[in-house]
Amino acid sequence: MEASSGLTTTSESINHSDDGEKYANGVNWDELAFGITPTDSMYTMNCSDGNNFSQGHLIPYGNIELCPSAGILNYGQGLFEGLKATRTEDGRIMLFRPQENALRMKMGAERMCMPSPSVEQFVDAVKQTVLANKRWVPPPGKGSLYIRPLLMGSGSVLNLGPAPEYTLLIYVSPVGNSSPVGNYHKGRASLNLYVEDKLRRATPGGTGGIKSITNYAPVYQAQKQARAKGFSDVLYLDSVTGKNIEEISAANIFIVKDNVISTPALVHGTILPGVTRKSIMEIALDLGYQMEERLIPLEELLEADEAFCTGNSVTVNPIGAVTYDTKRVEYKTGEGTLSQKLYETLTGIQTGRLEDKKGWTLEVN
Ligand SMILES: Cc1ncc(COP(=O)(O)O)c(C=O)c1O
Repeated sequence: MEASSGLTTTSESINHSDDGEKYANGVNWDELAFGITPTDSMYTMNCSDGNNFSQGHLIPYGNIELCPSAGILNYGQGLFEGLKATRTEDGRIMLFRPQENALRMKMGAERMCMPSPSVEQFVDAVKQTVLANKRWVPPPGKGSLYIRPLLMGSGSVLNLGPAPEYTLLIYVSPVGNSSPVGNYHKGRASLNLYVEDKLRRATPGGTGGIKSITNYAPVYQAQKQARAKGFSDVLYLDSVTGKNIEEISAANIFIVKDNVISTPALVHGTILPGVTRKSIMEIALDLGYQMEERLIPLEELLEADEAFCTGNSVTVNPIGAVTYDTKRVEYKTGEGTLSQKLYETLTGIQTGRLEDKKGWTLEVN
């Protein structure tokens, strides 16, 4: 089927894929990792006038075709988002604050000279994609359906400049509860982080504060080196002074000292404004904790009582240890920690176990 001159797919357009089965066959729901399982459908929506996205539609999940000179392939003009749909004990399927992802995509699109779908279009597209893949949403407690919206310059462009055409593509995959950056075993493994002292993730004035696809491959080298030494992931320092902590490859960081919770401030546009970060800050305040957003020198992390990171893939993940140069520091993890309490509250709201007094969840079925 021809979806546009920029991106084509070889599949027929469909309306939905729900054939009545509650769960997809052949999936071991107890062994889900953070990886790709091909599902039934994906969603595509185009913008060929440079401003407005037209009516999108569902198509079968599968490979796509792009012209060799597509803006995303040649100049990295693209953004992605990540969010999840979770099945509650009583069978409802819930999204968590999808409007926040839509707004972040809009903000990123502006920086990358791309048009973006409206918040309503984004949320509707996410809902349609989840509904069409309902049977891939894991049973309660077994994981969630990871949703990956991709906004890309799909039109042909040879001169350096914005593409003439854009596509929003949304695909999904069931994923387990274990962290993708944990110690590669199941459960909420605590993170063993390496503080990267040479390679920087983001610079002021750059794109660290948005989910540009171009932000991610450049951290592979640091991640690869750290993992080869047995670390789970990398913590990056600010690129101007090299003294303040910023974030992990795909998660925000918090520290706890004497019941005060702190997280690096977003002021220089080098840290991604995480939806989980924002939610945890609000939950911490509601629970009566002092919450600070500010510059955090590395020394403070090394002297903290607790540290944890947040992101939609890791939810709230305790940090067990941090290594800087030859110095290794360990933190409290597990029962009785603040990160455990925050994790329970956040996942309680996301899974319907706790009442959502904030209107953060959106039911899709
Ligand atoms: C660089 C980076 N920081 C932080 C996050 C956490 O953001 P969120 O809580 O919205 O998933 C992500 C993941 O999306 C990320 O890629």
